[in-house]
Amino acid sequence: MSRVRRVELFLPEHNTVLVGEDLYFTFATNGSVHLIASRCAHRGGPLHLGEVRADRLRCPWHGSTFKVDRLCARAVSVVQRGSTVIAYVPVPESTSDDLVAAHTLVFAR
Ligand code: FES
Repeated sequence: MSRVRRVELFLPEHNTVLVGEDLYFTFATNGSVHLIASRCAHRGGPLHLGEVRADRLRCPWHGSTFKVDRLCARAVSVVQRGSTVIAYVPVPESTSDDLVAAHTLVFAR
């Protein structure tokens, strides 16, 4: 059975959150904020450090590109109230501690 952890991010100070070993980053498009898993589907590269061109996010490790709207469609659902983003993020079973840390990191632009 999977667990979830409530996280709150205060934009723009917090745009990434670490839940266990999984990093998520916020991405705003079309007036909505999305919380996207930063792990690239190819080999786990840091998508939050990628580059957005046109409608695709490019992974910085090997250059795979992903359609932004598809990433957003698979994002963790969020509720945004002003600059606060609230989400319930899955916590991996293997994580004994559901430690959460919110940060501001350089992320996909
Ligand atoms: S890890 Fe992202 S392209 Fe290889």
